[in-house]
Parts: sequence; C-alpha cells; structure tokens
Amino acid sequence: MYSSRAASRSWTGLFLLISALCCLFSPSLMVKHENFKTCDQSGFCKRNRAYADNAAATSTSWTSPYTLDPQSLSLKDGQLTGIILKSIAKDAEPVRLPLTVSFLESGSARVTVDEEKRQKGDIVLRHDSKARKERYNEAGNWALVGGLELNKGAALSNQEEDGYTRVFYGKEGKQEAVIRHHPFGIEFKRNGETHVKFNDRGLLNMEHWRPKVEKPAEEKKEGEEENKEGEAEKKEENSEEKGEDEGTWWEESFGGNTDSKPRGPEAVALDISFPGYEHVFGIPEHATGLSLKETRGGDGKYSDPYRLYNSDVFEYELNSPMTLYGAIPFMQAHRKGSTVGVFWMNAAETWVDVVKAKSSPNPLSLGIKSHTDTQTHWISESGLLDVFVFLGPTPQDVIQSYGELTGFTAMPQSFAIAYHQCRWNYVSDEDVMDVDRKFDKHNIPYDVIWLDIEYTQEKKYFTWDPLTFVNPIKMQKQLDKRERKLVAIIDPHIKNTDNYNVIDDMKSKSLAVKNKDGNDYEGWCWPGSSYWVDCFNPAASAWWKTLFKYDKFKGSAPNTFIWNDMNEPSVFNGPETTMPKDNLHHGNWEHRDVHNLNGMTFHNATYNAILERKKGEVRRPFVLTRSFYSGSQRSAAMWTGDNLAEWSHLEASIPMVLNQGISGFPFAGADVGGFFGNPSKELLTRWYQAGIYYPFFRGHAHIDTRRREPYLAGSPYTEIITQALRLRYQLLPVWYTAFHEAHTTGAPIIRPNYYVHPDDERGFSVDDQLYIGSTGLLAKPVTKEGTDSVSIYIADDQPYFDYFDYTIYQGAGHHTVPAPLEKIPLLMQGGHIIPRRDRPRRSSGLMKFDPFTLVVVLGKDGNAEGSLYLDDGETFDYQSGAYIHRRFSFDKATNSLTSINIGTKGPKTDAYLKLMKNVRVEKVIVVGALEIWKGKTEVTVSEEGSKESARRRKAAFEYHEGEKGKANWAVVRDPKVGVGRGWKVDFSG
Ligand code: GLC
Repeated sequence: MYSSRAASRSWTGLFLLISALCCLFSPSLMVKHENFKTCDQSGFCKRNRAYADNAAATSTSWTSPYTLDPQSLSLKDGQLTGIILKSIAKDAEPVRLPLTVSFLESGSARVTVDEEKRQKGDIVLRHDSKARKERYNEAGNWALVGGLELNKGAALSNQEEDGYTRVFYGKEGKQEAVIRHHPFGIEFKRNGETHVKFNDRGLLNMEHWRPKVEKPAEEKKEGEEENKEGEAEKKEENSEEKGEDEGTWWEESFGGNTDSKPRGPEAVALDISFPGYEHVFGIPEHATGLSLKETRGGDGKYSDPYRLYNSDVFEYELNSPMTLYGAIPFMQAHRKGSTVGVFWMNAAETWVDVVKAKSSPNPLSLGIKSHTDTQTHWISESGLLDVFVFLGPTPQDVIQSYGELTGFTAMPQSFAIAYHQCRWNYVSDEDVMDVDRKFDKHNIPYDVIWLDIEYTQEKKYFTWDPLTFVNPIKMQKQLDKRERKLVAIIDPHIKNTDNYNVIDDMKSKSLAVKNKDGNDYEGWCWPGSSYWVDCFNPAASAWWKTLFKYDKFKGSAPNTFIWNDMNEPSVFNGPETTMPKDNLHHGNWEHRDVHNLNGMTFHNATYNAILERKKGEVRRPFVLTRSFYSGSQRSAAMWTGDNLAEWSHLEASIPMVLNQGISGFPFAGADVGGFFGNPSKELLTRWYQAGIYYPFFRGHAHIDTRRREPYLAGSPYTEIITQALRLRYQLLPVWYTAFHEAHTTGAPIIRPNYYVHPDDERGFSVDDQLYIGSTGLLAKPVTKEGTDSVSIYIADDQPYFDYFDYTIYQGAGHHTVPAPLEKIPLLMQGGHIIPRRDRPRRSSGLMKFDPFTLVVVLGKDGNAEGSLYLDDGETFDYQSGAYIHRRFSFDKATNSLTSINIGTKGPKTDAYLKLMKNVRVEKVIVVGALEIWKGKTEVTVSEEGSKESARRRKAAFEYHEGEKGKANWAVVRDPKVGVGRGWKVDFSG
C-alpha cells in the first residue's frame, strides 16, 4: 500500500528498494511526524510562544511595547487610521506600524496593521533576493469578493476618556470598538458587553525589519556553522532585543532543506480573547472534534497549536492539531445567547493556540457565576495583520457575515450532489464502461465515474494513455446515455519532459513558479521531474483556460469535469512535502507569503477554464480540490484527502465535514470506504450509510486496494448499500434546497447541534450527529463496529419521528434508536415538510421530471413548514429567474396545506415553469396525523390557474393509526398539483 505511492515519489532505485522493504515490515499505517514541523521546529512559532510564556511569567511587570499615537488618529467615512509605535531598544526610534480599522456596513469590523518601512520598500533584502519587500497585502484579492462597504455612520463617542478612543458602529450604532492607546488593544462590544478582545494578554508582535548584524569573521569559532539543523543558531551579540531567540531569524533548516529568509524575521502575532465563551469552532482543516480543544498541554489537551500550512500529510493521524491539506482561518466562539467570530486573513504558515481560562465564582460577589474565557493566540510567519471581527449574535449571523466577504458556495450542477464512483484507477475505457454497465445491472444509482492519474500517458495531463484509453469519446457517450458524467484528474505539476506541448508552452511563456534565483522551479511529483503552473499569474490562468478547450484537451467532452489534486502544492522532495518558502510567484511574492492560497488559485483557474470550454456553452463547472483557502467555496468542492479504511476514520469524518460547513465551505466529503486499506464489508456498508450525509458523496480507494464497487460486496451488503444510495437519491430535493440556502445565505448544508439549537448548552460539543439543511432531518451515522443501536441526542421538546416507521422520540436528552446493519438511524423533527422524489432511477439526470412526495411532519403545535428549490440543475438560467422556489405550510388552525411562491420573477421564469408544468406532487404523507381526520376518505384540492371546473377537486385520503409508540399517519393520494404552482389541500373539506 505504501510502496506504490513511495515508488512514484522515488527517483532512485535504491530509495525504491528501501521503501519497499520498509513497507514489508511496517506494522501499521502512521503519519511520518518527522516530515512535519512542530511549533518548536518552526522558528516564528517557537519565538511567539516564548513571547507568550515570557508575558505570562512576568505578568505583573509585563507591558506590551505597542502604543497607539493619539495624535495620529482620524476617523473618516467609516475608517479609523493611525500609527502604532512599537518601542524597541532604549535609544532606538520606535517602529511605525500604520493601523486601519474599517467599520463595515455589514456590522463587521476589519483591523489591519502594516509596517511602514517594509511598506515603503525601505529595507534591504539578503542574498540579492528578488523578492518583494512589502508585507504581503494581496490575500484579499483572492479571498474577498464583497462586504467591504464602509459604515459611514460609524462615529466617535462624545464621552471622552483619556487613553481610549471609542467608535460606535453597525446597525443603530449598537456595536462599539474601544481602542486602548497604551498598550494598544481593542475591545469589541455589542450592546455594551465585550465579546472580543485584541492584545488583552499583550501578545501582539509584529517582527519589524532589521538588518542582520554580521559577526566579525574572527569571532566565529572554528567549525561553527551558520545554521545547524535542529539546533538554534547562537544568539547575536549586537541585537537590539536581547533575550530573544534569534537562531531562526535569518536562515532556517528542516529535513535537509534550508530556507534563505531574505527578509529576516517578519512574523505577525496577536492574542484574541473571547470573554465568557467556552467553545470555539472552525479553523479547518484538522482531524479534530468540532469544539476545539486546548493546545497548551495537559490531560487530554494538545501540546501544539492548530497549524494551518496546507500540506500533503501522508497517512494523517486523528485527534491531532497537525495541519492538513487546506486552511480556513475563520473561528467562531459560541456560548448560550451569543456567537461571535474572527477571520485572520493571512495566507502564510499560521499556528493558533487555544486556552481556556476558568474563573471560579467569587464568594464575595453574590450571583456572579464562574465562567470560562477562551483565549487564542494567532501566529503567522509573514504578511499583514488583517483581521475581521463578527459580532453575531447568532451562529448564522457570523457565518453569513463571513460569507458576504469571502463568497457563498457555488450552486452546483445537480449531478454533483449525487453519488460519485472513483478509484485509483479505472484502468481502461473498457473498464469504465464495464463498471457503468454493472451499476445498471444491479440497479444501483450513480452519477459520476472518476479517472485518477493513470488515465494519462505517462502522467502528462491533457493526454490519454493510448493503450488503455483508446476511445474516451465512446466511453463518455455511453455514460451520457444515462446522463452520467466523467471526472478526470488534472494536477498542477507539469511533467518536465520532451515532446510535451504543455511543458514547452509553460517554459516558453514563463508561467511556472520560480525558485529563489528567479529560474523555473523544478521538483518531483507523480510524473517525476515537474514544474508548477503559477496561477497567481493572470497570464498563467489565461493560458490554463486554453488547455481545456475541446480541441486542445482531445477526448474530453461536455460531460467531462475536473479533479484538482496535489495543489497544496505537494512536492515529494520539497521541505515538508511542499515548495521551498523562498520560491517566487508572480509579482515576486515569496511562496512563504502565499502558500495557503496556492491551492485556491489553481482550482479557481480550472473553474474558469471549464466555464469557457466552448463559446456559447455556459454551464456550471464542477471542480474538486484537495487544497483550499477562504473563498474556495465559490468554485470548488473539497474532500478530506487520504483517510484510512478504519472505523476511527469513518467516525472522524463527521466532525470534519461539519466543521467545513460552519466554516463557509460546506461542499465537503470524505472518501467513502477509506482511501488506504481494505474495509470490511460491514465498515464499507456503514461508510455508505454515513456517506449519504456528506454534501460531497464519493467512494474512492487507493491503487493497491481491492475493488469495492457496491455491487461487489454481495448479499446482504450490496442490497443494504443500494438502499442507502436510494435514500440519498430520494432526498436529492432536500439536498439541492440546502445547497441553494448555502448559496444564498452561507448556511451550512449539514448542521451541528449548536448551530440548530444555539441555546442548548448540553449540545454545544455534540459532533457525531447532524441536521440536513433546514429540514429537521436528524441523522446519526453508525461509526462503530458491531452496532445495533445508537444514542441520538435530542435538544428540544419537539416530537422526532423515525424516518422509516414513524416511531416517536420525544424529550430533551439521549434516546436509543435501533440501528442493525440494514437500518439507517434517521429522524424527522416535528414541524417540517420534507420534499422527496420516490421513484428509483439510475442517475439524478433521469429524475429531472419526476413527481414529488411531500412528507408533512407535524410539530407539537400541529403545524409544519418547509421549502423546495428547483432549477435546471445545469445552467446559470436560475440567475434569470428560471427556478421554482416554494414554501409549503401546514396550518392546524385552517386544517390545510398550502404551497406559495417565494421566488422572484425574472425573464426566464415563465419558460422554466412551462417546462416543468407537468411535474406534480403525487403524494402527501402526514406524519403525526390529526385524530380529527379519522374516517375521512377524501380531501379538497384547489390550484391556482387551473380551469374553473377543476379548481376545486377531491383527492383520495387514507388515515392510518400508528402501532404502539409510533405516530398516526395519513396519505393524500395524487393531489395532482403542479410543483411550480400555488395550491391548497383542505383537510376539512
Ligand atoms: C493523492 C490523492 C488521492 C489520489 C492519489 C493519486 O493521494 O489524495 O485521492 O487517488 O493522489 O492521484
């Protein structure tokens, strides 16, 4: 299993041999810790942690050396500007740090701190570096798409107080920024109460530029090296800041690679505290629980900070703050009654420490309870200090504010939310067609089949292996017969070889990432020697587009979509399996500054390329990415990378995918079945039953694993997996509606308990069950072997009904729900209406004109409400009104169910409604049916726009009494109402 991947990475026969031998004896799969830095091995992280330790140890005498110069302050049009002065050595001039606090119309605030000397280019780079001198200030160009309108009404308080500047902002001026001058710090208040504090612990640290003071040669002891690996360099004598660990200021080595650091130390760090908040969530991607654990050691706590440095972490471990493939530096703090958040917009390597400070009740101050403050410490290697603050007060408010800045998730094509079948690799076009036929033979629905790297000719992207993929067009035509799609992988490393026009072009047009000397950077990946396309360069993105045209990428077709992998970027022989930090990107920004953005620039370029494959053919692209940053949600889906076929990885996938949802990038999933290793049939079955709840639902497997397409499992597994897949397909209207909500409001697609019940303290850290969209569907995937029941946590006093047999569960607390292998634990919360499509089909495309079933789940007050969003699932016509958006309500008082339009009419609405005019609601099921309906055999249906004679008609009605413990239920048979029309079903008539 290990050997084939290592083999691809290897470039000498010897290494290959050693790897193969290691593999034979390696007892189990484990991450190679030695390949990735701990905070202690990362110079700037270690320095800033030491800074924090020093501040804590000397807390009585410690003062942060940052002072805001009150004379410099001015507030104009919603923006406060001024200069922070950092005092350094006694007689030295303080360092000038320009501050901008922007108060935004949305109610958010943005705090930016730069460094004047670097800003002006008034510094000297070492080693004749060609790198830019400024702190990186372009992260916003990639991450932000809106929400920056200034709140011109922001006003200074007329209550003057020495040493403070107060600004009221936001709706009705209910928010306040209290800016302390010395030491500089900010408190953000909502309705007079402080929710977020900057530099409260005095850990603000902008490592200012300074020249390296070279030691006279004779002072160097014999044999003393500039930079010994794993050992700090000797402290410099003449430094202005004695006592700091300067060993990693100028050069830094790890794993045999040396980083030349031409700008010296330039970290930026800040403590951000959330007073009274016990839980913080977010900052993916880590294999951790949803409520983030503390990171400063101790029982059950982590000892390293959460790291954000996009990396190809081979065989990653669970329950760890280690970095993974993507980074979203957005965190929410939550407590009963309030949620707030911060977005640390920095694309360099970042570490985040989390500690919780408990204060015990003071016996003298009656009524004041103990409370917990969560204190965080953000540390980035370079770039600006640029932080957004969101004051909520609800989880949705915070997520929406973040989404207004970074964009909401793209509306996917409908196939993209159905089932994807992948493996490394389907070996030939015949193989693909055979798998396709077998799905059909077994009546198993699927929408997309995937091709991993082996489809190419010798790992040259945009080519097909001529021996195995002889006729890709024929293959795709077969898929198209059932409206199925193909996804092919295209990675960012371009093979450095002869007779390959893609590399020739990239070299001649100078579109590759450069090394520190300004020459094309060469490294190793799947194809061996490779160059990396630099999508920070607009010319590279423009060129990338040309490669996807049908006449360029021959063999691709309108139903081909793209998978972007290895875009952290993964470089097998690079430091920490990625690029050297002193590599240069377009504009001469160092890789150090932009690392976490790299993956997003690449999948953005692919998205734009798919959009323009052919003139006039404008359809929503589909791109899967492994690496991501804030904003990736606008153009891609993500998956959690190379997991293991183990129960623990199935379990870990639920909080990981939930975390993506609350962090603004909800189109997420994990490899179903587990990537490395062979799952048992039970594990595979349970993984499918869980995978149907991933917004992105794909089975995938490593090249060395056994085939595991659902039809291979055999009875009863195949049938059980098929049932799970059918459940996903039946609920596609629910998923599509949830995606639409995410697309328009940023709401997560699958939702954790705290988001749905923000005042339920007991449920804040529940992360092993989920709600789907706004439907009240509550699922608890089975993630343990040999399970026959699960314990579902219910937060409220609504009745919850088993999805399949309407067993009632009611009352806040844990409930035992049967979960033998063939049973998926899924409940329906009372008060919702769930739209479904019940006819089993082979692909989602074939369901386009299928009728709907509405499941009306009555709440404790006898009412229910739900919605349905529907469009062509393919084009952008929905932006011109070509969609159906309905609200369904059951009202106990009027004893009727109605459908009303909640869409806005556009130029293409009528044409779409006409296309959908025969699509009807064919069944209404009422769960928790009212006793007064007993004996009734018909109901009255009326529909807008139907002929006078048909305006009021009868539909058959059945009432069923539930067995013990189960709800009564009723069915309205074929009310024949149009899904795009207004109508009413009257249960009294
Ligand atoms: C990486 C991906 C994995 C893929 C493999 C080969 O390991 O994470 O999904 O199958 O590369 O392309």
